[in-house]
Amino acid sequence: MILESEYKQRREILASKLSKNSVAVIYSAEYKIRSNDTEFPYRQNSNFYYLTGFKEDNSCLVIIKKRKKTKTILFIQKKDPKLELWNGARLGKVEAKKRFLVDKICFIETFSKKIEELLESSLNLYFDFKLDYSKIKIIKKYSKKIATYKNIALDIEMMRLIKSDSEIDLIEKAISITKKAHHLVMKSKKIDKNEYQLQAEIEYIFKKNGAYSDAYTSIVASGNSANTLHYIDNDKEFKDDDLILIDAGCEYNYYASDITRTIPVNGKFSDAQKELYNMVLDVQLKIINMIKPNIKRSDLQTKSEELLCKGMIDLGILKGECKQLLKDKKHKKYYPHGIGHWMGIDVHDENPYKYKNGDEIPLQKGMVLTIEPGIYCNKNDKTIPKKYRGIGIRIEDDILINEDSYINLSKGIVKSVKEIEKLSL
Ligand code: GLY
Ligand code: MN
Ligand code: MN
Repeated sequence: MILESEYKQRREILASKLSKNSVAVIYSAEYKIRSNDTEFPYRQNSNFYYLTGFKEDNSCLVIIKKRKKTKTILFIQKKDPKLELWNGARLGKVEAKKRFLVDKICFIETFSKKIEELLESSLNLYFDFKLDYSKIKIIKKYSKKIATYKNIALDIEMMRLIKSDSEIDLIEKAISITKKAHHLVMKSKKIDKNEYQLQAEIEYIFKKNGAYSDAYTSIVASGNSANTLHYIDNDKEFKDDDLILIDAGCEYNYYASDITRTIPVNGKFSDAQKELYNMVLDVQLKIINMIKPNIKRSDLQTKSEELLCKGMIDLGILKGECKQLLKDKKHKKYYPHGIGHWMGIDVHDENPYKYKNGDEIPLQKGMVLTIEPGIYCNKNDKTIPKKYRGIGIRIEDDILINEDSYINLSKGIVKSVKEIEKLSL
């Protein structure tokens, strides 16, 4: 659980980064239409949530910084019994005043007027440039009033890079639920089932254990489908001797998990599957072992490409000299993606990978990133040994950087051939 005092502290840190004479506006997310009269489940904007912990729409956080003094206002919706009958209870001003450690709670209806007043005496306006609705609302209304626009998202995302203990607790909780789901499907009978049935079993475990949502659409990709990186059709029937690449993780209280395991439909890896699988696993373990503060993500990327390239030469997938193959990017055909990404409130945390001066941000204590090497052998690729065609493998864990090395937060989710086969039988 994240205490109100922690949200307050985050707002104070953010305020300390703003220029003098500034106003920062951070909006809640908007509802997104799914089809006529129905919406997707509401999901709060990650940066707004990080600063407030507030899950209602039509809200806005404003930070006003004069010289050194700052003031925070949270704009919220009025209570409205008629609308609440349809769309659920609103917190309302009385409760909001008790809960949030902001200077003032105002109704959202007063937002425009208040901002206009504030901008009369402010030089800088911060908002999230990436959000269409943020841009449209701000630029349309206030474009002539202000000297400079600045992107608030960058500062918030830099802060989000380092996780607090309470954030790590939530990530660990998400991973513990995801572990249950992955172990359940390792054990469950898969022959005569369909990919979406396994998806349903996974997502049932998420919800049953209090994870309201998946952190991203689950990938349940059997056989050659695993060679489509973002495969989400999940509509094929399992074939007895196929592998299933399952990239599925729940979101718990707004914190993600992101886990991939690749398992056999019939519970046993074939020799060819085992060869490829162990090669990827060996690379994953080696890359995880490199992790410590001050290492760069690009170092992990380079090493993973080198190791996978060597592994592919050993298995006869690539032919030639490793250095030259890497130079010619031949390995990219089979390992086209990154080694991992930051993870937190978003599964791909938006946090930047570089400082403003262009230097790469090294790993530091409190960061969480995924390590997810993979190899993808399309069934139509005639250049590789026949036994590997149609196999796609990825193995993904969530890693926390600590004082001098790392903690694999998902190490409890089994991944050796032996362990997976044992659970499957
Ligand atoms: N699940 C998306 C990813 O692994 O990046
Ligand atoms: Mn990932
Ligand atoms: Mn993933």
